[in-house]
Amino acid sequence: GGSGHVEDYDFSFEGPFGTYDTNQLQRGLQIYTEVCAACHGLKQVPLRTLADAGGPNLPADQVRAYAAENFSVYDPVEDEDRPAKPTDHFPANTNAGAPDLSLMAKARAGFHGPYGSGMNQLFKGIGGAEYIASLLAGYTGETKDEAGTTFYENTAFPGGWISMAPPLSDEQVEFVDGHANDVEAMSQDVAAFLMWSAEPKMMARKQAGFVGVLFLTLLSVLLYLTNKRLWAPHK
Ligand code: HEM
Repeated sequence: GGSGHVEDYDFSFEGPFGTYDTNQLQRGLQIYTEVCAACHGLKQVPLRTLADAGGPNLPADQVRAYAAENFSVYDPVEDEDRPAKPTDHFPANTNAGAPDLSLMAKARAGFHGPYGSGMNQLFKGIGGAEYIASLLAGYTGETKDEAGTTFYENTAFPGGWISMAPPLSDEQVEFVDGHANDVEAMSQDVAAFLMWSAEPKMMARKQAGFVGVLFLTLLSVLLYLTNKRLWAPHK
């Protein structure tokens, strides 16, 4: 198959009024924790932001429990590892030579179409989440060995061969609400979570932008009427 193919997935956060889907972000967090965190870090992301209303929106006590149960942090004063707290960041992880995922959704482009025109990006946003979902669901099953490294054929990865083994398989992660857990569904969930990690304030930004446009529209109307009125005696 060809490489560099990005699927035009529909995400809830696309478009000028799009918002993150809290449940999807929570599933994505679970997938990241159970699967991706084995190799990838998320070092730019403060654990406390898991409680943010525009994000995964976890209750504060759950964030505390999540941090302590899943991660530990080196304490230079005590010279030992201690359980992570909400005030810590997700740890870095470069053991497997895997890149940090904090900003990955902004570092990669999404669906460029139609016909490579880029219109989709203009209307729906940069869309790195589409690339990540396409990557995770884009393995063909073919492998090759080169210079002692195994490469896996992937329809989304530029060049077509990636050194990351397919990280997801059907039913690998169980969700408490029994939500779909095939590769396709989980790819989109974890991609949405990584979009949030890269752009946690997207909803606030869209809201501020909308209010700005609203006020500018109002201002235009007022200026138009003022202009009419000022020039009326001279007509
Ligand atoms: C690369 C995502 C699990 C090892 C990547 C990239 C992404 C990604 C977005 C960057 C691709 C690019 O450069 O365009 C994920 C997600 C995972 C996951 C969302 C969980 C679902 C894992 C696991 C391992 C791993 C478990 C190790 C066993 C790597 C490596 C690379 C990589 C080594 C570099 C690949 C290359 O450049 O050839 N991953 N990954 N990943 N990942 Fe993962």
